[in-house]
Amino acid sequence: MNKKILIFASGRGSNAEAIHEACVTGEVRGEVVGVICDHHEAQVLQRAARWGVPAVVIEKKDYADKAAFDAAILKAAESFSPDLICLAGYMRICGENLIHAFPNRILNIHPALLPSFRGLHAQRQAVEAGVKVAGCTVHFVGTGLDDGPIITQVAVPVYDDDTEDTLSARILEQEHPAYVRAVKAFCDDALCVTRHKVTGMHAKEQ
Ligand code: GRF
Repeated sequence: MNKKILIFASGRGSNAEAIHEACVTGEVRGEVVGVICDHHEAQVLQRAARWGVPAVVIEKKDYADKAAFDAAILKAAESFSPDLICLAGYMRICGENLIHAFPNRILNIHPALLPSFRGLHAQRQAVEAGVKVAGCTVHFVGTGLDDGPIITQVAVPVYDDDTEDTLSARILEQEHPAYVRAVKAFCDDALCVTRHKVTGMHAKEQ
């Protein structure tokens, strides 16, 4: 049976689009059932309207404090009864209430080879550090920043004349297929999480 996928996004939504498209084509045994967005002008909302998928906007400024905001997010998320939550350019740290409500059922994509370059502007951090290889990571969401068991990673080269923008574009090309592969594996019940390690996607061909 198709898994119900809930997207959390803050902006452009190109990763969300890739996941939705893979569900529509049948590559992923899932269905995007909703979008939760923390910014009313985010482009992902136009995408959700085009898909015919309900979107809920929950903005931090409308809540007295983080606890009230986190409670609203959890209530909205539970209303979709999702099997899987995909953070796709969601620029906030999830509340622990959400993480505990959906253990090992929240994925994130980060534009760096974790555990290097956590946090904002990961691609800029990579350029400034002078690393020669960068990339992206899809992982289960833990309680720390860009933390949690790693599902898959893709590396890309960093060139001498790279800027944050050129490196971001090269990484983004790899983000979409990497995220789709991870979501597909989740929806096929192929992933197994043991303590901090995920198996099931990178088994050696026998
Ligand atoms: C991506 O680079 C993602 O890795 C990062 O934010 C960006 C979001 O892009 N967390 P989009 O909204 O999916 O187009």
